[in-house]
Amino acid sequence: MEVLRITGGTSLRGEVAVTGAKNSVLKLMAASLLAPGVTTIANVPDILDVEIMAELLRRLGCDVSHEVALSTIAITVPDRPDHRADYDLVRRMRASICVLGPLLTRTGAADVALPGGDNIGSRGLDMHIDGLRRMGAEVTSDHGYLVAHAGGRLQGARVWLDFPSVGATETLLMAAVLADGETVIDNAAREPEIVDICTMLRTMGANVEGIGTSTLTVIGVEGLRPVQHATVPDRIVAGTWAVAAVMTHGDVTIRHAKAEHLSLALEKLTLAGADVECLPDGFRVAMSGRPRAVDIVTLPYPGFPTDLQPQFIALNSIAEGAALVTENLFEARFRFVQELARLGADVRTDGHHALVRGVPVLSSAPVEATDIRAGAGLALAGLVAEGETTVYGVGHIDRGYAGFVPALRSLGADVRRDEV
Ligand code: UD1
Repeated sequence: MEVLRITGGTSLRGEVAVTGAKNSVLKLMAASLLAPGVTTIANVPDILDVEIMAELLRRLGCDVSHEVALSTIAITVPDRPDHRADYDLVRRMRASICVLGPLLTRTGAADVALPGGDNIGSRGLDMHIDGLRRMGAEVTSDHGYLVAHAGGRLQGARVWLDFPSVGATETLLMAAVLADGETVIDNAAREPEIVDICTMLRTMGANVEGIGTSTLTVIGVEGLRPVQHATVPDRIVAGTWAVAAVMTHGDVTIRHAKAEHLSLALEKLTLAGADVECLPDGFRVAMSGRPRAVDIVTLPYPGFPTDLQPQFIALNSIAEGAALVTENLFEARFRFVQELARLGADVRTDGHHALVRGVPVLSSAPVEATDIRAGAGLALAGLVAEGETTVYGVGHIDRGYAGFVPALRSLGADVRRDEV
């Protein structure tokens, strides 16, 4: 097993480049299933989840070649992909569910194992299933699999989502592009990753309107063509480096990032006392002195991203004052504060709320990452804790951050991976 060993106390300084977004590239890879032929995706992050998705596509009959050095992936999709996504892969990554929509609309059937993935709450699939049923699919659960049949082409339908779920929006969007007639998805998610997949689908020949709004209108077409598409930059990784700069009193320029995708998070960093400067291809974050505590309420985009909540709890844990953090998306996401407490953080949780009282200094301890973003939050805390912090569960961080340790080291952090 590998661990991170982080000796706190260095200010992060320098430049770091962000790769493509994990939460987009996996869906773009799934969208390739919609068209026979070779789809090429650029700006692909070198992370474990991409490998899992590549393996899943191979099992569906695709030929996948990942050029890590070039950050590209080429997916050759057969005329008739297989339609079964097995448990051994799906359980490792919840995002595997994103093959459900494309497989069903393309082949008329999909058997997808019920997902596992991050340990951050119940994460139901009811909106995916209800939406597909409205489009005429028959969906049942059978021995741990979701079994969906279209009985011919899916039918366009009007679907209202109870909540702007990212995953449900993507499933229904991908199902709708090859369905018969018009589908309207109301209360759709508006994340930059949704805009990214909509843009790719349009290039493939799909008829999608309302991109970036909460009403997506799709008129199904008979077929789509494979394309080349570059993944949107990862706003969560960019945000993680920005928080690291503030916590360590550093000065970091984050390249290949889009500041406009992080408006609220960067505004919070400004309120914490940081200088944030937008640049043509990214932004620069500089901080001197102790940050001030900032309240956070997570919400669907353009609200504050839940995927940056643990990093901001880490920031608040060493800030001047106290902050109230409200988590509205994943009930179990506060689990990691028990680990943060091992470093001396003062965090009390009550349901959806966490009260974080800043302490002047954290002290190193062994801690365990329980999901990707918890891992990032704990690593950031380790960067400012006195002594050497050991982070277990590095595999979680590897699922979402390409070259996490080299990036931190290039900014001057004292961090290494160790076998234990
Ligand atoms: C995606 C991201 C994840 C991010 C989240 C919110 C990927 C691979 N993951 O997850 O990093 O934190 O968006 O920005 O892109 N829900 C239901 N029923 C459904 C669907 C969702 O109850 O049918 C609930 C979930 O349990 C959760 C909330 O809705 O509480 C948000 O889920 P959703 O927006 O779908 O997130 P994911 O797509 O799973």
